[in-house]
Amino acid sequence: MMEPDAPTPRPRPRPRVLELYSGIGGMHYALKESCIAAEVVAAVDINTVANEVYKHNFPNTCIYPKTIEGMTMDEFNKLDFDMILMSPPCQPFTRLGTQKDVLDSRIKSFLYILDVLPSLTKRPKYILLENVKGFETSVARNKLIQTLENCRYSYQEFLLSPTLLGIPNSRLRYFLIAKLQPGTFCIQTSNEVLKQFPDLDSMEASYISSFSQMLSADDNNMEGINADCCANEIKNGRDETVLYKLETIKHVKQKQSQDNNSSMQMIQGFLEEELQDPSPYFISTKSLLRYALILDIVGQTCRRSVCFTKGYGSYVEGTGSVLKTASDVELASVFQSFETLSEDEKLTQLAKLKLRYFTPREVANLHGFPPEFSFPEKISLKQRYRLLGNSLNIHVVAKLIKLMVE
Ligand SMILES: C[S@@+](CC[C@H](N)C(=O)[O-])C[C@H]1O[C@@H](n2cnc3c(N)ncnc32)[C@H](O)[C@@H]1O
Repeated sequence: MMEPDAPTPRPRPRPRVLELYSGIGGMHYALKESCIAAEVVAAVDINTVANEVYKHNFPNTCIYPKTIEGMTMDEFNKLDFDMILMSPPCQPFTRLGTQKDVLDSRIKSFLYILDVLPSLTKRPKYILLENVKGFETSVARNKLIQTLENCRYSYQEFLLSPTLLGIPNSRLRYFLIAKLQPGTFCIQTSNEVLKQFPDLDSMEASYISSFSQMLSADDNNMEGINADCCANEIKNGRDETVLYKLETIKHVKQKQSQDNNSSMQMIQGFLEEELQDPSPYFISTKSLLRYALILDIVGQTCRRSVCFTKGYGSYVEGTGSVLKTASDVELASVFQSFETLSEDEKLTQLAKLKLRYFTPREVANLHGFPPEFSFPEKISLKQRYRLLGNSLNIHVVAKLIKLMVE
């Protein structure tokens, strides 16, 4: 008698992902980059402009253009998801925001998610959350942890920046990954908020070791500034002396050490080849005169830039670095004795640097968006910067998704 055929194993269904506060789809790109075979079954966001960009890039994903607190329990249950990826609004927790924490109405939707989670017909196996630094000490975070513990999740918290991956952009963010028990992580979890990726590969390890070296750098990295003067100032314990552009010797030295750190990529690798029309990216003379001394200026060979926020391009102060496209002009030569100059002279000096804003494509490159990501043409420059400033670093999140699922 013939043996009956062994039943053909059914293909394992792909995990179903619910992307909340989906914006322009940073989480969706991170999921793709993580190579986890999963499918985003719904993206929820109230912002119609963000939703247009999302639809443009992910035409096949179902978008719910509504508030999260407007979703019913039934809608959540029908989506039958295995994973939640979410970046709740950060204004209630930012240093410059309201700091109203759970009293801020913008966090209502997040508290609603915490209410919904225990009552779902099927709890998702994985949860990843991103927020600003500051969230880790909030009441909202405590409520999240309490809910996860009650619902029997293991979890790990992080404070991470893309610089840990050799990307020359600071964007320190809070992350939490959670896994429904009895599932366990491939890493030993800890109650501490981790400030490194647990699975450091050699590149990251070498960056960290050179970063530590940078912090204890000696006086040898003084190229381009008056080395003798600095060496003396430092010996005299006067690291706080302002050199130029309101920057102290310590600041200038730190920046130079960062720029000499070869385990970080150079800014030039993230720039557009040649801008057809650079004029939208020039900084107005009014802004230049007003903010020249506080602009964070980086050159193409620099290996650092500061966090790009949603106000980039509209506001100058603290919204992100600007690019010096004149590679042969030193900052020191332009800013020495700057305060003594007339307005016209100041402008003549500043013009030498050929400063401009990073383009949205360049910000997207620093955030790890793939080349195929684009904006619909009708989205204005201001809206592009706004949406990118609200988004996240894809490489960092991709690594965390892998860590969470593997
Ligand atoms: C920090 S951004 C998230 C950005 C997103 N991860 C990305 O990659 O673009 C927060 C998003 O939440 C959306 N949002 C805020 N409150 C909401 C609510 N109650 N319901 C739905 N979406 C909301 C905002 O429109 C914004 O796009």
